[in-house]
Amino acid sequence: MVLIARRKLLFGAAALVACRHAEAEADAEPAKPTAASQCALTHDNIEGPYYRAGAPDRWDLTTPGMKGTPLEITGRVTSADCVTPLRDVELDVWQANDDGHYDNDGTMPKDVGLLLRGRIRTDGDGRYRVKSILPGHYLNGPKYRPAHVHVKLRATSHAPLTTQLYFPDDPYNDGDPFIHRSLVMDVKKADGKMVARFDFALRQVTGRT
Ligand SMILES: [Fe+2]
Repeated sequence: MVLIARRKLLFGAAALVACRHAEAEADAEPAKPTAASQCALTHDNIEGPYYRAGAPDRWDLTTPGMKGTPLEITGRVTSADCVTPLRDVELDVWQANDDGHYDNDGTMPKDVGLLLRGRIRTDGDGRYRVKSILPGHYLNGPKYRPAHVHVKLRATSHAPLTTQLYFPDDPYNDGDPFIHRSLVMDVKKADGKMVARFDFALRQVTGRT
């Protein structure tokens, strides 16, 4: 009899806990989408004709006296799950100047050097930071390309990625044959400066890339 009574007591306690748990779930707000549920690999994009290897290791791509709207881009690089940070990823960044010219498009003296190019590495949390200026527009055939920043990412055990980052509200976004909506950065403007955010997710591969 004692045993039966004890079982009843335990069952009653368990039912109470289950009931409270159900109430708690009913009271809880609807689940918000997690990073994992929105996760997608970063889309690639054309390299274009102006890449140069051997950019210096620097996070500040500007040089003294360079004109243009100040721009800072920050974000993280993760593995394909959009959660696992990737450290020591190389971001090889290049872009046009305020007038829409690259240092190798034939409009600058040959000894101008490497302008608005740099290689940045992610920290232990997969974070990166780039200081630059808003790139200018340039003609691609009969049409202007929207402002964009080129980047190549190289990471251990992940596929290399060549892509471009874009700006919301650019008048040339519509109709550009290369832009991909997922590559438009989250950009805030404050005090004459643009602060952009973009997170990358890279495809994992076996072995070293
Ligand atoms: Fe370009």
